[in-house]
Amino acid sequence: MLTLLVLTSVVLLSAAPQSEAIVVYTGWERHALVGSDIRLSCSFFSWRWTSDDVTFSWSYRPDGAKDSISIFHYTNGVPYVDNKGPFRDRLEFVGNPARRDGSILIRNLDFYDNGTFTCDAKNPPDIVGRPSSVRLLVFEKNSQVPVQSQFRLV
Ligand SMILES: *[C@@H]1O[C@H](CO)[C@@H](O)[C@H](O)[C@H]1NC(C)=O
Repeated sequence: MLTLLVLTSVVLLSAAPQSEAIVVYTGWERHALVGSDIRLSCSFFSWRWTSDDVTFSWSYRPDGAKDSISIFHYTNGVPYVDNKGPFRDRLEFVGNPARRDGSILIRNLDFYDNGTFTCDAKNPPDIVGRPSSVRLLVFEKNSQVPVQSQFRLV
């Protein structure tokens, strides 16, 4: 009986890690005005303790483009902003990896920054999971003017 119990728990324990996976969360869609800053958040769920080797990586695909470019990595405890692409001088890491937060801040948004930002996270040995994406739409500062003038005309 005891042997059966031990065997059962051994089987359960060894099966569990395979069904576990990391789940990455970002927002779904964000709106912002030209010239403003935006924080794009990324977090993850994992059954394991937060690893010292937690990594985050962000990529960006401009609207209409086929390929994504890598824009940011956090690995070995160090944030790296890629030195290519539209955000090389405007991106700052504002996350807290110990709290599973891989958020980035993009400063001084441009009208042409519309696109999809994808975050991937790994919490070794928990590394199996799908990246999550958030769409950014940037509006011109005066984009509400037509709506307001319509009200004034009525
Ligand atoms: C970005 O998206 C907004 C909202 O859809 C749109 O008004 C604007 O024209 C887009 N910018 C560009 C450069 O396409």
